[in-house]
Amino acid sequence: DIDKKVSDLLSKMTLEEKIGQMNQYNGFWNVTGPSPASGDAAKKYEHLRKGYVGSMLNVRGVEEVRAVQKIAVEETRLGIPLIIGFDVIHGYETLSPIPLAESASWDLEAIKKSAEMAALEASAAGINWTFAPMVDISRDARWGRVMEGAGEDTYLGSRIAEARVRGFQGDSLSLAHTIAACAKHWAGYGFTESGKDYNTVDVGTSTLNNIIFPPFKASVDAGVRTFMNSFNELNGIPATANSFLQRDVLKGKWNFDGFVVSDWGSMSEMINHGYAENVKHAAELSVNAGSDMDMESYAYVNELAALVTSGKVDEALINDAASRILRVKFELGLFEDPYRYCDENREKEIIGSKKINDAVLDVAKKSIVLLKNEDNRLPLQKSGQNIAVIGALANDKTSPLGSWRIAAKDNTAISLLEGLNTYPDNKINYAKGADVAIGEASFPFEVEINNTDKSGFSEAKQVAKNADVVIMVLGEHAFQSGEARSRSQIGLPGVQQELLEAVYAVNKNIVLVLHNGRPLSIPWADAHIPAIVEAWQLGTQSGHAIAQVLYGDYNPSGKLPMTFPRSVGQVPIYYNYKNTGRPAANEPNSVFWSHYIDESNTPLYPFGHGLSYTTFAYSNLKVNTISNNEVEVSVELKNTGKFKGKEVAQLYIRDLFASVTRPVKELKGFELVELKPNEVKTITFKLTEKELGFYNNSDEFVVEPGDFKVFVGGSSKTSLEGAFKL
Ligand code: IFM
Repeated sequence: DIDKKVSDLLSKMTLEEKIGQMNQYNGFWNVTGPSPASGDAAKKYEHLRKGYVGSMLNVRGVEEVRAVQKIAVEETRLGIPLIIGFDVIHGYETLSPIPLAESASWDLEAIKKSAEMAALEASAAGINWTFAPMVDISRDARWGRVMEGAGEDTYLGSRIAEARVRGFQGDSLSLAHTIAACAKHWAGYGFTESGKDYNTVDVGTSTLNNIIFPPFKASVDAGVRTFMNSFNELNGIPATANSFLQRDVLKGKWNFDGFVVSDWGSMSEMINHGYAENVKHAAELSVNAGSDMDMESYAYVNELAALVTSGKVDEALINDAASRILRVKFELGLFEDPYRYCDENREKEIIGSKKINDAVLDVAKKSIVLLKNEDNRLPLQKSGQNIAVIGALANDKTSPLGSWRIAAKDNTAISLLEGLNTYPDNKINYAKGADVAIGEASFPFEVEINNTDKSGFSEAKQVAKNADVVIMVLGEHAFQSGEARSRSQIGLPGVQQELLEAVYAVNKNIVLVLHNGRPLSIPWADAHIPAIVEAWQLGTQSGHAIAQVLYGDYNPSGKLPMTFPRSVGQVPIYYNYKNTGRPAANEPNSVFWSHYIDESNTPLYPFGHGLSYTTFAYSNLKVNTISNNEVEVSVELKNTGKFKGKEVAQLYIRDLFASVTRPVKELKGFELVELKPNEVKTITFKLTEKELGFYNNSDEFVVEPGDFKVFVGGSSKTSLEGAFKL
């Protein structure tokens, strides 16, 4: 039915109108004010009226969206509505934790719900398409955009990708509270050399097929309607013009019938890459390679028609691209009602509503990871305590919102101080100690990140001296991670490490609360500070979530989705590495094994690590081969501590020898289990061909007979081991 509607409409369109569907512009003028008379904005405005614009991004709010939609619907020849895109990365105005943090929950229901709430709020503001989820796997904590993904693991990343796609898109795209999702960045962006954003990516077939592609495939299987190219070149060909990616894999092998949008300006950036001679050439390369929509390169709108007329581009490719875009617009119900997302009453009622705030608080609590808790320092006593709180981030109502918060207003996060003040029976004394960043920063501006001012140290020491417990809130400013914010050092920025040591000298009873958008290397803190809480950037309800965890009203259950290195020199460091010919265990007395002479091979905190206020014991691992290539693994999990708590039981396998070497461990299952003290549950994991196989270097998915090991435990440093044979 939709196909017929698309082809009927297509048959009425001129070449320029079809190309218009493939053109996306950034919001360009005060759309509710007078129309622009000259310059770039005037040109865009003219294009919009002619039907040469298929989509806009960064136009938001019912009033603005209605204004541009009205032009498209009422002033263009065919009245084709626009699809309105926006970076709804971890919420619209009410923010959930940054995606890396949310991934630490390993709670697929909560993650789905968070995307659902983001869609609810964004759709109430006129948006019908998000540029999320980012499903780039990355093993490099230096890369600023790790904050936006699900971490280092392809299995966890795939499950989270599905949850996010389903959350955004709901049961049907045509409902007014669901929006189209976009799997990005296709592909390899997270493998940028030296963790520097936009840098070269050169990876082999095995890594592409087994590590990078699966979360994208999972997104397609979950019904994602759009993809976005990545800025990087992949093995010498920029992703935007990479027909292996778009044509062979995505639209070929995977049969994807949605559309692919370029990243911002990535078509024209191919001139810098040294791949396109000029913008016209870039347009030709991109359309031939299967990029359907041009985000802000002006390549398609200005160049495509001439390329078709001169025979350089086949019109069939334009028809295909325009059809894909129109199809999604039909699915969104935009032709039935172009103003479906433009209801002022709904906007007022939904944005910032209690329902959304409750959901983001819930997922924020679940995202916190207890890294260390010596002598059960946590949870804190609820009364009679004299608590020192130190660190600029404790009193910050903006930075906890995290990067990617275009629509969220500054000063709208609950600060940790505000959260702690909801427990009135303790006395709080606050000292800033040191700033993290200097000056104000709002998106997309850089902040001067390395504050060197130590003038607040003496006040901090004074406040700490007589406290029963010191809560130090340190880490990164929100704009020290995110796009174009790679770091070469990943410790505590500025003078915060010195501040921590200075305070420690006067009071060792410290709870360190970390705010960061990437794994940090904090070996000194790990060696000295008794309790460490990873609180990432948790969004609007940040302070409430952290306070509830510190006081034990929520028992932490998060697990790291990315390895924390001891030092930046270990990066890229990840749990599913290959054994090499000279692994540590085989060469205890030799210098000639794979290691550093000045650093251990082990991480500071492994992938999957996270403590609880209770303890869990794993026992009784059983492995049953059910049939050919089907294995069942069961284990008993007991809550051996004093609190009710949740544990993420993780299952890993190792294929001991194969036609392509396999990692020492690969996550292949996990389950979030809640247990009361002394309660025992048997958890059963099923391994099928999907989990047991891999892509060989001839692009075939194979399950190879032979010996496997299986491991189960509460982190990638698992506690139980078994074996089976296929
Ligand atoms: O969605 C983003 C992308 O991830 C990075 N470049 C800009 C796009 C639109 O804002």
